[in-house]
Amino acid sequence: MSAADAFADVLGCPLCHGPLPQVEDGSLSCAACGTRYPVTDGLADLVPPEPGQAETPNIRIMESRLLARVYERAWRPVLTRLLTGMSHDAERAWSLDWLDPAPDATVLDLACGPGNTTRTIAAAVPAGRVLGIDFSTAMLREALADVRAARATVGYVRGDAHRLPLQPGSVDAANCAGAFYLFSDPPRVLAGIAAALGPGGHFTLMASQQPRVDGAAMAALARPLGLRVYAHGEMERLLVDAGFDILDRQLAGFMLLLATRRR
Ligand SMILES: C[S@@+](CC[C@H](N)C(=O)[O-])C[C@H]1O[C@@H](n2cnc3c(N)ncnc32)[C@H](O)[C@@H]1O
Ligand SMILES: [Zn+2]
Repeated sequence: MSAADAFADVLGCPLCHGPLPQVEDGSLSCAACGTRYPVTDGLADLVPPEPGQAETPNIRIMESRLLARVYERAWRPVLTRLLTGMSHDAERAWSLDWLDPAPDATVLDLACGPGNTTRTIAAAVPAGRVLGIDFSTAMLREALADVRAARATVGYVRGDAHRLPLQPGSVDAANCAGAFYLFSDPPRVLAGIAAALGPGGHFTLMASQQPRVDGAAMAALARPLGLRVYAHGEMERLLVDAGFDILDRQLAGFMLLLATRRR
C-alpha cells in the first residue's frame, strides 16, 4: 500500500492542512485549496510549489546520493559517537522509551533521513504506523529501497519541516533527531509539530547545544555554514513556548536529548 493510501487520514496539504485524496492522474489534490502534489515512483512530493524556507546549502548536501548511501552504516554511527559519546542504538532506545507509543499508534519521524530511526519506531508499533518525512529525495529513496522497511506500517513522503504536510491532530507521537541544527525557523517547525500532535502526545528530539566553555564562539563559527548550535536552555524555552512540557533531558556531549509532552 502506498503512503498516500496508508496515511490518507494523516497527510494534509502543507499550505492549508486540508485532506489530500489521490486523483485520476495519481497526484494528490488538496480537497480544500485544490493544490496538486505529484507522486513519482511511489514517492509523494508534498513540498509546496513555491520557494521554501529549506533551500539552504545544507539541504543540498543532504541531497547527495553518496551521503544517503553511507549515512546509516557509517556517517551517523561515527558522528553520534563523536558528538554525543553514546551509540546511535542507545540514543534510539532512549527516544523510543520516551515516545512510548501504543502498539497501534501513528508516529511521525520528522527529517527521517534514510529511515534509520523510522524502522526502530516501526518495530514498536506492530499494529500502528510510522510516517517518515524528509526534504531530501536521495535520503527518501534510500529509505524506500531498504527491504527492512517493506512493512505496511511504514511510509515516506517528501516534505518541508517548516510546512508540515499533515492534518491537525493526526499523529499520536513524534520524533525528530539530528535535524534542528538545519532548520531556519525552529519555532515554526515546533508549531507545526504541536498542531499535528494531539494533546498529551509525546515528542522526542535530539538537538545541538553549545558547550558551557566557548559555546558562543562555536555557534558563531557554525552560523555561516547554516548550522545552528543552540544556546544553553534555548531549545527548552522554544519547546515550552510552543506548548510542550519537558519530561526529561539528557545532555550527551554536544547534543541534548529532550523528551516532551504536548500540553
Ligand atoms: C543528519 S540527518 C538526520 C536523519 C535522521 N533523523 C537521524 O536521526 O539520523 C538530517 C536530515 O534532515 C533533513 N532535513 C533538513 N532540513 C529539512 C527540512 N526543512 N524539512 C525536512 N527535512 C529536512 C535532511 O534532508 C536530512 O535527511
Ligand atoms: Zn490546500
